[in-house]
This record gives sequence, structure tokens and C-alpha cells, in this order.
Amino acid sequence: MRTQTDQQAPSDDLPASIDEAITSRRSIRAFQSKPVPRETIEHILEVASRAPSGTNMQPWLVYVVTGTAKQALTNAILDARENDPEAQVREHNYYPKEFFEPYLSRRRKVGWDLYGLLGIERGEKERMSRQQARNFSFFDAPVGLIFTIDRRLEIGSWLDYGMFIQNVMIAARAQGLHTCPQAAFCPYHRVIRQQLDIAETEAVVCGMSVGYQDPTAVENGLVATRVPVSEFARFVDNPA
Ligand SMILES: Cc1cc2nc3c(=O)[nH]c(=O)nc-3n(C[C@H](O)[C@H](O)[C@H](O)COP(=O)(O)O)c2cc1C
Repeated sequence: MRTQTDQQAPSDDLPASIDEAITSRRSIRAFQSKPVPRETIEHILEVASRAPSGTNMQPWLVYVVTGTAKQALTNAILDARENDPEAQVREHNYYPKEFFEPYLSRRRKVGWDLYGLLGIERGEKERMSRQQARNFSFFDAPVGLIFTIDRRLEIGSWLDYGMFIQNVMIAARAQGLHTCPQAAFCPYHRVIRQQLDIAETEAVVCGMSVGYQDPTAVENGLVATRVPVSEFARFVDNPA
């Protein structure tokens, strides 16, 4: 029997239903160089912008990075990562300062499942670091997105933002595209700000790779498991 972490190539088929658009999305970490037309990205963003937001505030701001601008951003982050430890500054905490159960185990599992597919073993820090660095070349995707938000906005707007980002990923599936949302960019907001001329009033929410998945890449076989509904949902009703 197949387990959820068995290597399976992600589907290139267009999703036939909303359920399939959602369930065929997974984080893809190797892309083909095949370009994505600007009109396709505009369409995806237009569809995604139908996301709801409290009092219709629509807090999303998106920088679409391609071509030499994307390469320059990649180079600047990789250079900072290598040579300037002070370039890494968090402006918000995405993760808790200390992990605890059940989140610690879930986080470890997906990490080791990914490294397992890539043949990276415990202690191989250099190979782990190189894999982590692939985030910054957008896993070779032709399109990189950087999402920002007006930093004065509150947690509700960040919630709205999540709905928008999910819409981007699902709308991308409808175009035969795959994605990887990436918090890895956040600590490099100063470098990103400089490269893309982003105002100090905006905080970097996350990045995203968008493109056609590489079906030959082993890492794209990763299917991250989920806890069953019975573990995270409780149906509450009064007995008849
Ligand atoms: C906001 C956000 C940030 C993420 N950041 C990264 C990242 O920086 N690098 C990465 O490889 N995956 C990143 N992921 C992908 C998660 O690891 C992935 O969603 C999770 O393991 C579940 O797998 P799936 O997306 O394939 O279903 C991120 C996901 C989200 C939602």
C-alpha cells in the first residue's frame, strides 16, 4: 500500500474540480526553466484577489520578479547569506521561539522526509545548507513573488493575507502551474527591500516560487502527511 510519503510525481494535469485543485497543490522544490507569461501571472493574481478580507481592506501587495531582476535578487541574498551575518534580521516571528509537541514532531518529519528523498543524512550540514540555499534561487522557477504588507496592519489582515496566498497557489494549479510558499525570504527583508525598492512601511510576509514543476526531481515526490480529521476536529452536538 502507498503511504502518503511515497515518492509520487506531482500531477501536471489540470485539476478537474475545486477539491482536486486544492489536493493537487503541494510545495514544489524544483522547477523547469520554461517561462510563464506575464498575462498568466496577472490572471492568477486577479483571481486570487477575490479572497475575502475584513472590511474589504485587501492588505496584499505583490512584487513579481522575473528575468535579470530575479537573478539579481538571488545573487544579493546568496551573497548576504555567505558574507554578511547581519543581513539576516527577523521583523516578525513566523515560528514559535521554541518548538513543542505536536508541532516539533510534524516539523521534524517533513524535514527528514525531504532530506531522505534527497539522500541527505543526519550531520550532513553542508548539504542541508545547500538545499536551504535553493530557496533563494526560487528553486529555479521562472517567477518569484514577494508578498508584503503595510506593517501598521494587525493580525486580522495577516489572516486575510493567508487566504489570498492560498488563492494564488490554487489559481496557479488551474493554469497547470505549481508553487512553493517561502518564509525563508523573511529574514532577508533588508536585502529584498533594497533590490526591489520596497518602502520601509512594508513588511515582507513571505516569498513564493511559481512555475512548471520538474517531474524528474526526487524532491518533488515529497507528499507531506496530514493528521486525520478525527484528530483535529471535534463535532459538538446535543444528543437527540
Ligand atoms: C507561509 C509558508 C512558508 C513556507 N516556507 C517555506 C520555505 O521557506 N521553504 C520551503 O521549502 N518550504 C516552505 N513552506 C512549505 C511547507 O514546508 C509545506 O507547506 C508543508 O511542509 C506542507 O507541505 P505541502 O505544502 O507540500 O502540502 C512554507 C509554507 C508556508 C505556508
